[in-house]
Amino acid sequence: MNICIVGTGYVGLVSAACFAEMGNHVWCVDVNPDVVETLKQGKIHIFEPGLEDMVKRNFEDERLFFTTDLKEGLDKAKFVFITVGTPCNADGSCDLRYVEAVAREIGQFMTEPKIVVDKSTVPVGTADKVRTIIKQELDKRGLDIEFDVASNPEFLKEGDAVSDFMKPDRVVVGTEKESTYKEFETLYAPYARSRDKLIFMGTRSAEMTKYAANCMLATKISFINEMAGICEKVGANVREVRLGIGSDHRIGYYFIYPGVGYGGSCFPKDVKALINTAREVGAKPELIEAVDSVNNRQKKMLSRKILDYFEAQGGVRGKTLAMWGLAFKANTDDMRESSALSIISELTAAGMKIRAFDPVAHVKAEEILRDNDLVEIVHSQYEVLEGANALAVVTDWNQFRNPDFEKVKASMLAPIIFDGRNLYDPAYLGSNGYAYFSVGRRP
Ligand code: NAD
Ligand code: UGA
Repeated sequence: MNICIVGTGYVGLVSAACFAEMGNHVWCVDVNPDVVETLKQGKIHIFEPGLEDMVKRNFEDERLFFTTDLKEGLDKAKFVFITVGTPCNADGSCDLRYVEAVAREIGQFMTEPKIVVDKSTVPVGTADKVRTIIKQELDKRGLDIEFDVASNPEFLKEGDAVSDFMKPDRVVVGTEKESTYKEFETLYAPYARSRDKLIFMGTRSAEMTKYAANCMLATKISFINEMAGICEKVGANVREVRLGIGSDHRIGYYFIYPGVGYGGSCFPKDVKALINTAREVGAKPELIEAVDSVNNRQKKMLSRKILDYFEAQGGVRGKTLAMWGLAFKANTDDMRESSALSIISELTAAGMKIRAFDPVAHVKAEEILRDNDLVEIVHSQYEVLEGANALAVVTDWNQFRNPDFEKVKASMLAPIIFDGRNLYDPAYLGSNGYAYFSVGRRP
């Protein structure tokens, strides 16, 4: 099949490469000429394991094409996927300006029937909006071309994006048209190999499914974070509690790891957007409002612990914290809504210096944090510890899981660890002379 993907970020580029991998021909359109130029050189502008090789291979085999010209991609394709960003407005609502701009362009250049697909995460009713915009543009040109606007939300997660796309738990497609449904069946047959993995539904249900899924996952995380806070107060160990509840298959072990609060470009904005939608239509989103507020508090949990500890020692001003991890989670360079940024902001506001290391996100971090004189990005996991009064572990990169604790202790001014990801055994660190603070477990 011939496919056009508009917006080659985390979702667009992964979708494009994975569609091409199955033999489709895919035209990727992005407004950013630097991105397109990088891709044409067989390199990728984001960090995503396994993606660069796939992009390079399919580009060289001429199944993947890159352009800034939407008309070029549109002319070739039957499917046009919109995969641009849908960030959060100040009031929490979803900013649809990029989606609407793409819809306008599609209407301005379309010359034959197309299936337009919203793959970006968009509020319920957006497919109708996109349809209206395209129709208005066609009317201006005096054209009456048949087209459909379907919803095909994406469920991949960064760091596992390629395997999530190639072997999805499910593929959700929202359309009211039988012919569109048939085309999707063909497109996704190589991925959703068992038929029950392809779930067809109405467009609005598909749009809602995406928000419901992200809000459910965010709820699990806020729930366990709240349990962790209670565990600390009552002297229980949240690690043991997680195992205890997870063994009930109705609850499960996954996605109930306590930590520094959920970050990333999706959960925070999607929870807020659904709250906003619900309020607009007069529904009371009490549970997800609580999920959001628990998360806002959790993002400050580690910095609170650090501040409390040093306040009791005479204050944080002039003290230095080494930080392991800046990305919002492991295996990504993405720092959008990363809890590391909240922690840094709280601590530097109190006068603490931060020396931070991240194996991949350091390039983005240097850019984002360049105006904060109290922050230094260091390029080595152990050098970052030099002169530090304590270490904070913020991202769950594998290379932080089993470090050389003797070297860590020798590099720092004092052996103190604040662990936002529960990577270490409190008994082991205690017996090796460390002061160790984690989540949902007493020191
Ligand atoms: P991103 O910011 O990484 O990429 C968006 C790309 O779109 C950018 O390269 C930008 O230059 C391009 N763009 C913007 N306007 C354009 C236009 N008019 N024409 C062509 N290109 C344009 O975004 P992302 O993280 O890939 O997210 C895209 C959407 O997918 C969002 O709605 C997001 O919520 C959703 N989503 C993201 C993930 C994820 O893991 N990142 C997973 C599932 C769903
Ligand atoms: C998430 C969803 O997992 C994807 O299914 C979805 O497609 C995507 O959002 C999206 O809509 O964009 P992603 O944001 O890449 O994917 O990352 P996750 O692995 O879900 O982690 C999100 C945040 O929750 C991270 O900060 C992570 O550290 C945190 N988390 C995750 C926990 O604190 N505890 C957990 O048990 C799991």
